[in-house]
Amino acid sequence: MKTQISHDISLAAEWLASGSNVAIPTETVYGLAANIFSESAVNQVYQLKKRPSSHPLIVHISAMEEAEGLVCNVPEAARTLAKSFWPGPLSLILPKSSRITHTISGGRDTVALRVPDHPLTLELLRRTGFPLAAPSANPYGCISPTQSEHVLRYFDGKIPMILEGGPCRSGVESTIIGFVGNNPVVYRLGAIPLERIEDVTGPLTLSISHTSQPMAPGMDLRHYSPETPLCLCDDPSVESRSFKNQKLGFLFFQFPGDEWIGLPNVEILPFLDQETEAAAQLYAALHRLDRSGVDLILAQRCANQGLGRTINDRLSRAAEPAAQNPPRA
Ligand code: TXA
Ligand code: MG
Repeated sequence: MKTQISHDISLAAEWLASGSNVAIPTETVYGLAANIFSESAVNQVYQLKKRPSSHPLIVHISAMEEAEGLVCNVPEAARTLAKSFWPGPLSLILPKSSRITHTISGGRDTVALRVPDHPLTLELLRRTGFPLAAPSANPYGCISPTQSEHVLRYFDGKIPMILEGGPCRSGVESTIIGFVGNNPVVYRLGAIPLERIEDVTGPLTLSISHTSQPMAPGMDLRHYSPETPLCLCDDPSVESRSFKNQKLGFLFFQFPGDEWIGLPNVEILPFLDQETEAAAQLYAALHRLDRSGVDLILAQRCANQGLGRTINDRLSRAAEPAAQNPPRA
């Protein structure tokens, strides 16, 4: 199968209507989409990603009104959050209706919904008339794609089309919130800083597991990982002295000094005052370092505030040694 990269929304809609999978751009990361009403297309998403069947998929809709029919009992807090952040990088876990299959929900009685904030994908959702189940378009455990070329590298020849939407603006996945009664609980840190959500909800409960027994499926300890080992530290330039005989890659969030500029395998994403840009570039920088042939990536810990918490969450999962975890597929 030849994989076409194209801006053609009608073509993408045709492929999806015929039960094929198409990679779609969102403001967070590219997704691997399936018509939620095609069981074979949804199954194929799990197979392509080599994702365990217990890990549910996020369902993408074009507007809040489309949620009616897919969910029941929407808590007031969920409506408030949807009003504040949709379209946008917020996924809400709600009790599912019978229209959401167990394949999509990973056997749970809930479904995660979101309205993505990307003009092409919003238009695609309006044209198809069916919601799209779409996990990030990467094999299970690997770094998420923020550009069409990242998707192509993972799935060339395996899907008919990537809808070209340019580099993803936010660059990290959506924030995931579920509800205990009317109380919001954060299951995954994401593209909206917690502080901004708390402005709407008041203080939030976090259930973000960093243990080997994740509370939410898909929040595995090792995730978002390059093939290359990654070490998270406060100062990569100091840390590098301990690895004299290895070829090193560097990821800085603070300016390390003029002498580092222009060196190969050095990525500098200044965090202070530019945290949106740092998050947007995070995965592209990791993809580049992973392909550069270095033995080890030394990544600097971010300030633990705003999107820095999300960046640190992703990097700490990427830093988990593979050997201590079950095989990825
Ligand atoms: O930004 C995003 O959310 C991207 C774009 C494509 O929308 N999607 C994404 O999907 O990151 P995925 O499948 O890579 O991650 C979704 C996470 C998984 O950890 C999954 O287990 C969790 O959401 N999830 C989905 N439905 C859930 C549910 N009903 N209960 C608990 N966790 C759920
Ligand atoms: Mg993912």
